[in-house]
Amino acid sequence: MYFIANWKMFGVLNSLNSIHKVVKFLKNFKKNNSLKIIYCPPNTLIRPMTKKLKDTYIDVGAQNCHEHDKFGAFTGSVNSIMLKNVGAKYVIIGHSENRQAGESDKLINLKIKSAIKSGLKVIFCIGETLQQKRKKITKQVLNKQIGFGLNKIKIKNNIILAYEPVWSIGTGVIPKKNELFETINFIKKKINKCKVLYGGSVNPKNINDLKSIVNIDGYLIGGASQDPKKFIDIIKKTYS
Ligand code: PGA
Repeated sequence: MYFIANWKMFGVLNSLNSIHKVVKFLKNFKKNNSLKIIYCPPNTLIRPMTKKLKDTYIDVGAQNCHEHDKFGAFTGSVNSIMLKNVGAKYVIIGHSENRQAGESDKLINLKIKSAIKSGLKVIFCIGETLQQKRKKITKQVLNKQIGFGLNKIKIKNNIILAYEPVWSIGTGVIPKKNELFETINFIKKKINKCKVLYGGSVNPKNINDLKSIVNIDGYLIGGASQDPKKFIDIIKKTYS
């Protein structure tokens, strides 16, 4: 099971002090071979976090990258080579917060290609808005996001998919069990080599419900991942 912490635009150097609780917990936690933890802090914290997590089996990832896989005159941007260079092994691409800010499927496709070329693994986010859900076009939307996003990309173990319904992110609302099972199933049928995670308001309260959905391979966790106690609770409950 994957537990990916998406810190978004939260965190300064001091925030790293909190992760020692997670490290300590993992030392005493009977290591389950399927357990995979990845922290995706803001870019400014990637290097110090990798150093802090050096002797653990927690990996570090970034939250986005520029699509250009060479250096260039792109003020304010960071590309996948730079992220790899400071210790990132993964990068989240296509998060709905960035899609809403204007990232197109085409741009996302270029970003995924450049990340893979640089040797990063991609956490590729897809998901429908509330309006699209109401119109009952979730499958068409996901189909399009997957089709364009992964266009001409050879899928091996270089991509993890995260299904994040936009209406679930940060709202406390999660999809109904049967609907979520069905959507994950739909995604897995389309790209059968991928692990498929769920993301959107995952917290210690709803994890027992979520873990009963047997086709989910893990979680992309935003808000709750910034609190080590909640993050640990989610992991503990998943395995209890
Ligand atoms: P949330 O965020 O857990 O705070 O809903 C999830 C995400 O945006 O990846």
